[in-house]
Amino acid sequence: MSLEVYFQDCLARIEQMLDEFLPKPAQRLSRIHEAMRYSVLDGGKRIRPLLCLAVSEMLGGREEEALIPACAVELIHCYSLIHDDLPCLDNDVLRRGKPTCHKQYGEAIALLAGDALLTLAFQVVSKLKDSKKAHRILDELGQAAGTFGMVGGQVLELVVDPNEVDLPLLDAIHIYKTGQLIKVSCLAGAIIAGAKPEEEAHILRFGEYLGFAFQIIDDILDGDGYLRFMGAHEAKEKAQEVIEKAKQEVSSFKNNLRLVQIADLVFSRWNQS
Ligand code: FPP
Ligand code: MG
Repeated sequence: MSLEVYFQDCLARIEQMLDEFLPKPAQRLSRIHEAMRYSVLDGGKRIRPLLCLAVSEMLGGREEEALIPACAVELIHCYSLIHDDLPCLDNDVLRRGKPTCHKQYGEAIALLAGDALLTLAFQVVSKLKDSKKAHRILDELGQAAGTFGMVGGQVLELVVDPNEVDLPLLDAIHIYKTGQLIKVSCLAGAIIAGAKPEEEAHILRFGEYLGFAFQIIDDILDGDGYLRFMGAHEAKEKAQEVIEKAKQEVSSFKNNLRLVQIADLVFSRWNQS
């Protein structure tokens, strides 16, 4: 099956599950439920849930189980985008080709829609039948999304003087702000599949490298971040180097084709837009 067909197939199931998990517009609460659905559905590359499914599949996990953390990670990602776009942070007006959540629904509802998506993500994980796996994934998700993960990376970006950011600090910000959520997407797939500790360690490093490369490429596309320290060509070489390290981490796994293809796809984003 080609990568495209494989993706379309997985994407359809991810969209369906997200739709099922999201609350339907209900009387009195219709506005926030609409805002949540507006910010999650019909948009986004779904790279994080795809990674979760691909890791789980490679290690023999069941897709119906893997879809649960896959959706949880996407809900957390969507919450972070809503909050990131708010006037108090990036003050953006467009996201995924349409008005940002606060432009469409107002700041208060956008703030609360983000909160509700984050909360929903943890509730979704509780639906896993295997309570040990659920417990472990809840712990890893909390870590990756919190102050030692995504929120921490965002705070670092806020508090450091842009003139004092050197490359090691920028790398640390990237690894926290973007890398941790991508890492946990992969790790959750491994937990679902019941991976052995040494397998998990490889998957964890695969996710970390991929997340780091993802943000470098995002910087190239945005003309920011890494491009304050080097030209686009050099940044692309750096991203390629990190992608290769990611692929190396999964080179010993049988059936690693999808993960290698996703890593290549992350890199080739540079050629788009
Ligand atoms: C684009 O992802 C998003 C990033 C590269 C991550 C940026 C990090 C944040 C917004 C974290 C902010 C944190 C808080 C707590 C506000 P993507 O290219 O996968 O976007 P898509 O899902 O639209 O395809
Ligand atoms: Mg931002």
